Amino acid sequence: MKIAMFSTKQYDQEYFEKFNSDENFEIEFFETRLDPHTVGLTKGFEAVCVFVNDKIDEKTIEAMHQNGIKLIALRCAGFNNVDLEAVKKYDIKVVRVPAYSPEAVAEHAIALIMTLNRKTHKSYNRVREGNFSLNNLIGFNLSNKTVGVVGTGRIGVALCGILIGFGCKVIAYDLYPSDELKRLGIEYVQLNELFRQSEVISLHCPLTTETKHMINKNSLDVMKDGVMIINTSRGELIKTSDVIQGLIERKVGYLGIDVYEQEEDLFFKDLSEHIIEDEYILRLNSFPNVLITSHQAYFTNDAMNEIALTTLENIKDFKEGNMLSNEVK
Ligand code: NAI
Repeated sequence: MKIAMFSTKQYDQEYFEKFNSDENFEIEFFETRLDPHTVGLTKGFEAVCVFVNDKIDEKTIEAMHQNGIKLIALRCAGFNNVDLEAVKKYDIKVVRVPAYSPEAVAEHAIALIMTLNRKTHKSYNRVREGNFSLNNLIGFNLSNKTVGVVGTGRIGVALCGILIGFGCKVIAYDLYPSDELKRLGIEYVQLNELFRQSEVISLHCPLTTETKHMINKNSLDVMKDGVMIINTSRGELIKTSDVIQGLIERKVGYLGIDVYEQEEDLFFKDLSEHIIEDEYILRLNSFPNVLITSHQAYFTNDAMNEIALTTLENIKDFKEGNMLSNEVK
């Protein structure tokens, strides 16, 4: 079976080649992302394998259908970048990796919280330059602080467990509250109440029409002054222009993001020798209390192994006509 894999880096190739020896799928690795301009590359393949920033809109899907593509294998959990109506129309199956390592993402959210709080990134640079001063490095105890977790699925649950260990008061919001978390002492509240009470807010819900721009001027108005906002889910959960205004007005005290509204033109690329024209990312980078990582929350050895294994297993199931346990419908 011939598979065209898009948005690949050297590390993707390494992990997929490591686990492809059993099946020996014919995989061609393309560095470019899949979108209406590059869809011509799918000719001669039966399946595509894509990641978070590939653009699987109706135009791309129609062209893939004409090229004979029967399967879209997402090597990620989120599927907001796929037009699900269009795949149905053209009878293309979609599979994903629902849970490759929730702990990896939860632990990265903690890394963002603790780095912003205790400013270890600044100390690292200072000490290396012989500056041992503590000025402006003051942090706060996370213990006893109220942390609001929006979305208590796999990642949210993993985060709640870590936060309980830190001694935080954890409150949560989800459309479907978890009995397991309630038993652990986590209180579910309405979203506005979570915004009102939390010193730290961490987003772990998917991007949907309902959640798009859930962090905006109105929700910021409800929050405590100096709130810390963490987003490791999808960039469009935050209306970037509003959060920039919130930072200017000191409403937002800390912002930690692993995802960004306009990330597809920036993230995963080395642009250090380019002129970056995205005004929002430049402005965000100018704040001392903003920490940005480029969609690396998932990026652990454990998660990469799981992504490659599950994706190849999903493709094998499709090839052999088995039930697709990880199908997106
Ligand atoms: P999940 O599907 O296990 O959990 C999502 C939870 O959000 C569910 O409990 C669901 O009921 C809840 N939810 C849905 N709509 C909601 C709403 N309107 N308000 C509040 N809660 C709502 O997903 P999982 O595995 O926990 O992942 C969460 C998100 O994390 C993914 O959608 C993806 O966007 C992101 N992600 C980011 C990664 C990264 O590297 N930065 C890696 C993996 C996932």
